[in-house]
Amino acid sequence: MAVASRLDTGRAFAKVLLPTLAKGVILRRPSATALAAKARADAAAVATMKRLRERYGPQPLRLRVTGRSVALLLDPLDVARLLAESPSPFALATVEKRAALKHFQPHGVLISTGRERARRRAVNEDVLRPDKIDVRAIVADEADLLLRHARGTGRLTWDSFAQAWWRAARRIVLGSFAREDVELTDMLQTLRANANWAYLHPRREALRRRFEDRLCGHLERGEPGSLASLGPADELVEQAPHWLFAFDAAGIATMRALAIGGEGEAGIWESVRLWPTTPVILRESTEPTRWHGTWLPARTTFIVFVPYFHRDPDRLSRADSYAPENWPAPADPGLVPFSGGPGICPGRDLVLVAGGAMLDALRPHLDVPTLHPPLPATLNHFGLSFVTRSDD
Ligand code: HEM
Repeated sequence: MAVASRLDTGRAFAKVLLPTLAKGVILRRPSATALAAKARADAAAVATMKRLRERYGPQPLRLRVTGRSVALLLDPLDVARLLAESPSPFALATVEKRAALKHFQPHGVLISTGRERARRRAVNEDVLRPDKIDVRAIVADEADLLLRHARGTGRLTWDSFAQAWWRAARRIVLGSFAREDVELTDMLQTLRANANWAYLHPRREALRRRFEDRLCGHLERGEPGSLASLGPADELVEQAPHWLFAFDAAGIATMRALAIGGEGEAGIWESVRLWPTTPVILRESTEPTRWHGTWLPARTTFIVFVPYFHRDPDRLSRADSYAPENWPAPADPGLVPFSGGPGICPGRDLVLVAGGAMLDALRPHLDVPTLHPPLPATLNHFGLSFVTRSDD
């Protein structure tokens, strides 16, 4: 198995991993995201990955990192194997994720292991089901109000969209009583901004407790028609911080889907293919694993840089266009916007229903699409805005 030269290891960090980190992995930073779009950071990252594969071949590429074993995956079949064999021997709870997510969800399934992980995963799978509550009705309601506001100003901007989206998210997760609890999601926002720095930022335990208490208050009401009604509050309170956090990504995906004229669930799928909101999937091996005849030691970090697989013109006929025909069952094992295998995003159906409903409610009333192929590799969602239709 090839080992990257020091220079190429440097390139992988400088062009692929650090720009992704700079944008903010847990909470997107507006200035760095705008800069990345201007610098076409993702196009440069994908080009670097392509060169690495041409130089070293398709097998996992070991990077030279002192004191650690790190492998960059370059082949979709290896991605499929890594995800299929999670959480053991390829654990989702990597050192980096634990350091970041502990800031706001110390008991989240994603950083849990063993029996606790299995129990928490079951809670997520049980509750995150769009068929159990009327997600579409909540979204339609909020879309209606948002459109009224947009017609007044002539435009739908990211800021107005985000406010409506958070209202919908709080209602879906916690119930209508939490609809206006902006302070709750603002507290989470602060904790997430710190989480971007993982172990470099001290944890604010007092703020986290305040957030958790408030969240628990909402969950204990178990309001009918919300996810809070679907399980005991003491179990949900461990997982709900992740749900609220992840609704942010779903909103970003929805707004981007609007920009390309996406429709329904396929529109959301394509949005997260073109601009994956989880651009790096990490796993850490719990024991030595064999890859194409070579053993990699336990505690190897495996890196999947998702945009490389999602925009590969050698494998996808319309890599840089809106191509809804890719879904729902992609022929290519490298298309993994929601991850795959036993660690696949348990919220994906909820995302597809909520995002798809918002998309379909807004699209007929706005001048879309605003983007045309070839679609850019980086898209700054903070800068998106749409004109309302004059014939509306
Ligand atoms: C555009 C929206 C979303 C995308 C693209 C997305 C994608 C992903 C990905 C790629 C993972 C795997 C992470 C890893 O392996 O480290 C994941 C995990 C997870 N997602 Fe999502 N997600 C989205 C929204 C949501 C929402 C709205 C919820 C809940 C309401 C949710 C709940 C979860 C949970 C609980 C996990 C952890 C699963 C585990 O550890 O087994 N996600 N998601």
